[in-house]
Amino acid sequence: MNRILIGAQWGDEGKGKVIDILAAKSDIVVRYQGGPNAGHTIKVKGRKFVLHLIPSGVLYSKKICVIGNGVVIDPDALFEEVKMLAQGDIEVRNRLFISDQAHLIFPYHRLMDQLRENSLKKGKAIGTTKRGIGPCYADKMARVGIRICDLRSMSYLRQRLADVVKDRNAILTKVYKVQPISFEKTFAYCQKIRSRLLEFAIDTPKYLYESSKAGKNILFEGAQGTLLDVDHGTYPFVTSSNATVGGAITGSGIAPTFIDRIIGVVKAYTTRVGEGPFPSQFPSKLMEQIQKKGEEFGSTTGRPRRCGWFDAVIVRHAVRINGLDAMAIMKLDVLSGLKNLKIATAYRINGKITRDYPHAINEFSVAKPIYETMKGWNEDITGCKKWNDLPVNARKYLKRLETLTETPIKMVSVGSQRHQTIFL
Ligand code: GDP
Ligand code: IMO
Ligand code: MG
Repeated sequence: MNRILIGAQWGDEGKGKVIDILAAKSDIVVRYQGGPNAGHTIKVKGRKFVLHLIPSGVLYSKKICVIGNGVVIDPDALFEEVKMLAQGDIEVRNRLFISDQAHLIFPYHRLMDQLRENSLKKGKAIGTTKRGIGPCYADKMARVGIRICDLRSMSYLRQRLADVVKDRNAILTKVYKVQPISFEKTFAYCQKIRSRLLEFAIDTPKYLYESSKAGKNILFEGAQGTLLDVDHGTYPFVTSSNATVGGAITGSGIAPTFIDRIIGVVKAYTTRVGEGPFPSQFPSKLMEQIQKKGEEFGSTTGRPRRCGWFDAVIVRHAVRINGLDAMAIMKLDVLSGLKNLKIATAYRINGKITRDYPHAINEFSVAKPIYETMKGWNEDITGCKKWNDLPVNARKYLKRLETLTETPIKMVSVGSQRHQTIFL
């Protein structure tokens, strides 16, 4: 069984926890897009791990982890993560493989991300993670990126890097008026990371094809979420990769005929970190309350996440784009204690009512949610083990989410630990 797991909102839905659970019955876990902008949290037996690049299946000692061609790799971030895992007695040698076609994030990508963000006025900045993601993907599309396989021949790399550095320096010095980067330093950096990185590099599409043919179960781990997708999200307030289902195909080299199931990870409410419109955002007092209770602070940057009511318009959009077979509803416990719960079912945009997500950002930014209200529950649900343990109003809320999104719920998460999960 090959499954793709997708974030259905603006990221941070709890994908790390779900991957960690589903990995138990998988042989291989694959990251296929994004890079160290992701932060996937897993808590097991009182220990907490935050993974940025390495697939969340890594905590099981025998699982194979693959980083696909669609992921942008920052070698410094990767080695840091390998070190962090080793400190927790988790070894990745011989079970972490990286596509030799994956593009590399260089220090100049991080620099350009920062310069660009800092130069934009309020309301225009994207609020990126400043990890160099956008500039690296831009270079990939402009065909001036450097891939892991380019590190094999240093004479080839020398020529290629010379052209790339010249191109970067024109922008750095003329547009941003900062010091140029040094070719020699950048080349020396490549020499430093080269052999360690090449140890992990393989032909991942071939490996996944052969593994699938041999009956292995593959789990594809999405990063970010549908509304952050560069094509289907709230453009331009998005990331620079395809966080929707198509990204899993191109970003890993697996063919769509090999996929059996697509699962959406959905928070029981909505959060967003970084800039961009957010129609169902809470008023400030409630926002603070939920931020605190849900520990809504970015796993990568530590920034507070904005919080709001469940928005069925955006989740329906995610259902359509990704063809979701099922949903995992996360963080239901955070909603305990609220007298009433609101759900955005449609928007009013310039006087017109729509149930569909509008593509133009100027329309989305003036969308006023139309809410329906449901009764909340007071009980602490973090110990609930099965559907019938949940308070009746929590069950009604979940049933309503299923109806509004036309998608069955197969998992309900009531706490951050592995065991705090209800399977349906
Ligand atoms: P991801 O990027 O989608 O993997 O999500 P993050 O790890 O960035 O953020 C999700 C946060 O919610 C993490 O801190 C998790 O430990 C936590 N979490 C996941 N599921 C639950 C849950 O059901 N209840 C609570 N209270 N926290 C959860
Ligand atoms: P996970 O995988 C939430 C957001 C940033 C910013 C926008 C662009 O943990 O769900 P980028 O650095 O990618 O150019 O930033 O995307 N963003 C995320 N938000 N979760 C993530 O990943 C994110 N990765 C990027 O905050 O708004
Ligand atoms: Mg995250």
